[in-house]
Amino acid sequence: MYPLLRPLLFRLEPERAHSLTLQLLRLAGNLPPACALIRRLWGAGEKPLHLWGLTFRNPVGLAAGYDKDALAWRGLACLGFGHIEVGTVTPRPQPGNPRPRLFRLPAQQALLNRMGFPGQGAEVVARRLQGRRPPGLVLGVNIGRNKATPNAQAADDYRLLVRRFAPLADYLAVNVSSPNTEGLRRLQARRDLEALLRALLAERDAAPHRPPLLVKLSPDLTPAALDDALAALLAAGADGVIATNTTTSRAGLPARWQQEAGGVSGAPLRDRSTAFIRAIHHRAPHLPIVGVGGIMTPADARAKLEAGATLVQVFTGLVYAGPSLPRRIVAAL
Ligand SMILES: Cc1cc2nc3c(=O)[nH]c(=O)nc-3n(C[C@H](O)[C@H](O)[C@H](O)COP(=O)(O)O)c2cc1C
Repeated sequence: MYPLLRPLLFRLEPERAHSLTLQLLRLAGNLPPACALIRRLWGAGEKPLHLWGLTFRNPVGLAAGYDKDALAWRGLACLGFGHIEVGTVTPRPQPGNPRPRLFRLPAQQALLNRMGFPGQGAEVVARRLQGRRPPGLVLGVNIGRNKATPNAQAADDYRLLVRRFAPLADYLAVNVSSPNTEGLRRLQARRDLEALLRALLAERDAAPHRPPLLVKLSPDLTPAALDDALAALLAAGADGVIATNTTTSRAGLPARWQQEAGGVSGAPLRDRSTAFIRAIHHRAPHLPIVGVGGIMTPADARAKLEAGATLVQVFTGLVYAGPSLPRRIVAAL
């Protein structure tokens, strides 16, 4: 079915194709027969696992950025994901970068994006997360600072978001690794990261429900910078790591893309991300890892799990391989 659908979607401008898909999934999320049909056509099966006191119906989740404003998460759940990570959510609404800001690289099975956290802000997203929960779905909320907030005040933004979403989320993901918000990735430096995480974990611990707090890292950290970031995570007591965000590397891409700003996802990121997961697992063997980056096939997912990840996430693979990717991955495990 998707081989028929994909050429139609690919005729649309990428961001339009994405919002159309989200609108349809949103409808399906409110229409039980449509959800049942999607589940029958494409839905992933069960392969339960336990982590952080949560039960995941399978290890395959949806990565952040697909449903930034929590518009369609109930419809996306019809695809049978074990978890869905909405966001990145910022405290206040913001427009993101000027368009175009999302590009397809079909020959490379990749996307390049410089969205810059466009979104409706924490209050709108929080409202959408209230109410009915699809059975068995683990819901993550990925949080980030507003563009206008300098790093010196970033902790205030993140603390507000932890307070707002701790009661609604099964886990929180601290995004300090998007390449599209100026200066954001500097928050991965050891002292800044440890101070930020201590403040956020204190905020989390004051909440009645204390969801695990994960940190999402950039694949572009040098080995020394990764050591520092992991030392900060472990010292502060973060519950896990999401590896990885998109890369600013243009290695292996045609000249057309060398100067185009943004982060690359999909196939070109796959091995870099897997090597990064392996390095994390080697340095911090007890730290749970969510593996993400270039999972386009079941074998790609398996490589992440073998490198030390406990869960995996997909984004670009859904665009190229289609909505049955989670089903095929779970079936192959
Ligand atoms: C269009 C687009 C938007 C994204 N937005 C976010 C985001 O808001 N927050 C975030 O943590 N990651 C974001 N990501 C990164 C993905 O969550 C994921 O880490 C990355 O794309 C690598 O996985 P993939 O190769 O399966 O796409 C975005 C990726 C894409 C392609």
